[in-house]
Amino acid sequence: METGKMRVNGARLRASLEEMAKIGATPAGGVHRLALSDEDKRARDLFVKWLKEIDFTVTVDEMGNIFGRRPGRDDTLAPVMCGSHVDSQPKGGRFDGILGVMGALETMRTIHENKVQTERPLVIVDWTNEEGSRFAPAMVSSGVWAGALERDWAYSRTDINGRKQGDELERIGYKGAAPAKKWTTHAYYEYHIEQGPTLERLGKTIGAPKGILCLHWYDVYLQGEANQVGPTPMEGRHDALCAAAEMILATNTLPERMKGNMVATVGEIQNGPNSRNIIPDKVHFTVDIRSWDDDHALRAWELLKKDFQEIAARRGTPIRIEETWRVPHAPFNDRLVQRVLDTAKELGYSTHHMVSGAGHDASYMNQVCPTAMIFVPSIGGRSHVEVENTKWEDCEAGANVLLHCIMKTANER
Ligand code: GLV
Ligand code: MN
Ligand code: MN
Repeated sequence: METGKMRVNGARLRASLEEMAKIGATPAGGVHRLALSDEDKRARDLFVKWLKEIDFTVTVDEMGNIFGRRPGRDDTLAPVMCGSHVDSQPKGGRFDGILGVMGALETMRTIHENKVQTERPLVIVDWTNEEGSRFAPAMVSSGVWAGALERDWAYSRTDINGRKQGDELERIGYKGAAPAKKWTTHAYYEYHIEQGPTLERLGKTIGAPKGILCLHWYDVYLQGEANQVGPTPMEGRHDALCAAAEMILATNTLPERMKGNMVATVGEIQNGPNSRNIIPDKVHFTVDIRSWDDDHALRAWELLKKDFQEIAARRGTPIRIEETWRVPHAPFNDRLVQRVLDTAKELGYSTHHMVSGAGHDASYMNQVCPTAMIFVPSIGGRSHVEVENTKWEDCEAGANVLLHCIMKTANER
């Protein structure tokens, strides 16, 4: 078949997504497949099996990143890479991450069955722990691979039960032997659901983000004084949860105080001892700040940190702040972004040039090689929730765009 006429098999892509959605399926139609859980292992095993079926060479690196490789006509050339992640948020959706892996797999199956030989090798990747929900931070393994984060620091990160990321990698059998170290890469494409409302609102099928916002994560620990809630008078209390409540609202109003161009969220909190009749004395919560403007996000944090210190001092709840993780905003490669837009148009899909508010491994890949993403609409703009959904025809459309972007890029010298 003339390669320009090639199209992915939408039914097969759907079947693969549905098969994956069974792994960690939740009663409300979502997926709970936390990084390095038993469910993550099962999804990985299935992915590896499918890669072997199309004769891809599988390599697992010391961060558990899974790479499938298909040789190029000139195998000494730098490969074109594509992929995403198979882990999910707690009670997350059936498309976040996995669409980028199954979409990439479907393009590889299509290339394989059409016996297409690309000039450059092709590599498909599942990055370990993109979500950062069980072990912070997010995108940690593409970060290590890209040389932006330390492997041993990543190994030492713990989940809420004190389990170490490195130990969990070993437990599920995915601490591979290959070094988690970047190699020369010609280009990276990541296919993903938008996770926001823009494409649906505009009635567009394909989004091509010009890049990803910066992501800054903080962890805040408050020490209060526990006591019996009945006999203890209201005055003189050192209630760590009340201090946190003020801090959470300060975070929520921060973007307005900074005159926009950013978002700020407290998404996770642990309250101790967490009993209705004990004044809370130990609170941990997280802060997530994102903006296209890294300095703006840093200035916002300085303002918020001052608020936190003032609240902690006034309430007599000593505060400890960890500046956990920062990834700068990632402006993608203009030529590759334009290729996504042009390819989508050639295939007859409507397009929109936009920005990604969600974080992706493409952020770190952008530090390694020319990078671009392909977005398809999220129904109702909902994501990181069980009702997350995308039309099957849109899943297929995005995979077709990926297929043709990959073939063009893999045939350039
Ligand atoms: C990644 O899932 C993010 O937090 O945007
Ligand atoms: Mn994702
Ligand atoms: Mn996600």
